[in-house]
Amino acid sequence: MQKALSPKERLVVALDLPSGREAVEMAESLSGRVGVFKVGLELFCSEGPAIVKEIQKFAPVFLDLKLHDIPTTVERALKAVLVLDPLLVNIHALGGFDMMKGAVEIVRNHQKTGGRTRLLAVTVLTSLDKMALRQINMNGEPSELVHCLARLAKEAGCDGVVCSAQESASLRADCGKNFFLLTPGIRPKGVAHQDQVRVVTPSEAIKCGSDWIVVGRPITHASDPAVAADAIVLEMTEAEI
Ligand code: C5P
Repeated sequence: MQKALSPKERLVVALDLPSGREAVEMAESLSGRVGVFKVGLELFCSEGPAIVKEIQKFAPVFLDLKLHDIPTTVERALKAVLVLDPLLVNIHALGGFDMMKGAVEIVRNHQKTGGRTRLLAVTVLTSLDKMALRQINMNGEPSELVHCLARLAKEAGCDGVVCSAQESASLRADCGKNFFLLTPGIRPKGVAHQDQVRVVTPSEAIKCGSDWIVVGRPITHASDPAVAADAIVLEMTEAEI
């Protein structure tokens, strides 16, 4: 995969919709306008792997399963989903170095046989603040943990991390150019934040060094999702000039 992505390729639309039928209809209506569709745990658990095949008729898929278990189990689960050849798949960096390294090996073997999948690691969930981390005896600054896990993910061979756009600039400096940063929590100017607290606009995220931005409701809940997606791609195009 080329590191230089076009603005359209950078837009990942989260298909967090109540049914597989609605997700497929949304994917069809956005076909050709966005780079990637994100299939999350909810859709995957309710609809099964077949939904990925359906969605991939319209654009490549980021399979957001955030796998986290002992290395062998993660490796076997990854092998099972790699049959679908998603563009992106992810694991939790908190599963540790050996788990990540095992996952990297499975993905590299898949690539050797022509697969396109890239492996990302989730560092610290943005739902976990300093207090929540303290409750599980993680007493440092959340950002220190994010950097530590991102460096470990890179060392294990992961292709990149999922992170807040507010961390993109420092992670880019820390982890270098050839490391993908995918960032949710994106809100175009003037759009409702819903339950997202620390939001960043699409153009800010790109300027901070994010490779992909994940946008859900600002597109899927818009009166015209295609128009909303086009506006975000245009904003990113202007940010790159
Ligand atoms: O609708 P919205 O744009 O808020 O959707 C963002 C997507 O990214 C959702 O699928 C959400 O679960 C996911 N996500 C997030 N924040 C994270 C990790 C994932 O919003 N830190």
